Amino acid sequence: MPTGVENLGQLESQARAALEAAQSVQALTEARARFLGRKGSISSLLRGIGALDPAERGRVGQAVNASKQRIDEHFQARRRVLEAADQARAMERQALDVTLPGLVPPRGHLHPVTLIEREMTQFFSNLGFSIELGPEVETEYYNFEALNIPADHPSRDMQDTFFVEGGHVLRTHTSPVQIRAMSGRQPPFRFIAPGRVFRHDSDATHYPMFHQLEGFLVDERVTFGDLKGVLYAFAHQLMGPEVKLRFRAHFFPFTEPSAEMDFSWRGDWLEWGGCGMIHPRVLENCGIDSERYQGFAFGMGIDRTAMLRFGIPNIHLLFDGDVRVLEQI
Ligand code: DAH
Repeated sequence: MPTGVENLGQLESQARAALEAAQSVQALTEARARFLGRKGSISSLLRGIGALDPAERGRVGQAVNASKQRIDEHFQARRRVLEAADQARAMERQALDVTLPGLVPPRGHLHPVTLIEREMTQFFSNLGFSIELGPEVETEYYNFEALNIPADHPSRDMQDTFFVEGGHVLRTHTSPVQIRAMSGRQPPFRFIAPGRVFRHDSDATHYPMFHQLEGFLVDERVTFGDLKGVLYAFAHQLMGPEVKLRFRAHFFPFTEPSAEMDFSWRGDWLEWGGCGMIHPRVLENCGIDSERYQGFAFGMGIDRTAMLRFGIPNIHLLFDGDVRVLEQI
């Protein structure tokens, strides 16, 4: 037996030892190839059989094939063991402890301006006012002309107004919603109009974008006393029963008479907004008979009210978007 077949038993033991030593499916497959692969040592034994005495070929061939098959069976068994171990490790990696406490996502809250705006609109809803909205990009007609603000009025100055291409402006107040809401309808009206307004102004108490609440009521026999009564009730609701209001004679083109109103706050008077009886020309601009109907109107800053209520000293803190500030409110 010149071809090394006499070593077959030893080779088989080596093969089994190599399969046993392999710790991964890949190492196992490599070990198998070293013995049973095309260039493996058992396969070369088989190839050597051709050179044997024909009388021996059958016996040797059978012995080698039987050995080959035993090694292959050992390989299959070992592979099942390694695959099961792989799978067990993978399961362990993916294991999920369902008894661990969950992650609670941090919970946000409404912006202080939104909170106050909702409180304000709720108060007026309870009095039967409904909400009207208008566009933030407005025509000069609605923002100025229809409100009786003449072309040479200072509030039309470039200093205050953001002009937009095409003869539009960013509305400088919510008063244009009065015109939009009243035109083409007939009184009685009870409306409020909250929203964003824009002015070319920026310091600790001014921001180029801020919020106003407009309110107006039109009917027969409406008086300045009605206006004061509504505003007193409103101020008390927002700021508490001890707050005082003060009306100072003022001028607005769209009201006559007009007043600015202040409220008492920790010993000071703070300006809150403007108000007055709607100018007859404004009513006429909306197609309303100003002999028969009168109305009152007012407009105040929502942001300023929020700053007082929450003790925020600088309006920029409201809008710079720093959650560390907003979280404290
Ligand atoms: N539109 C005025 C402003 O922005 C505020 C105002 C004053 C509104 C008097 C009114 C009003 O409705 O009657 O300064």
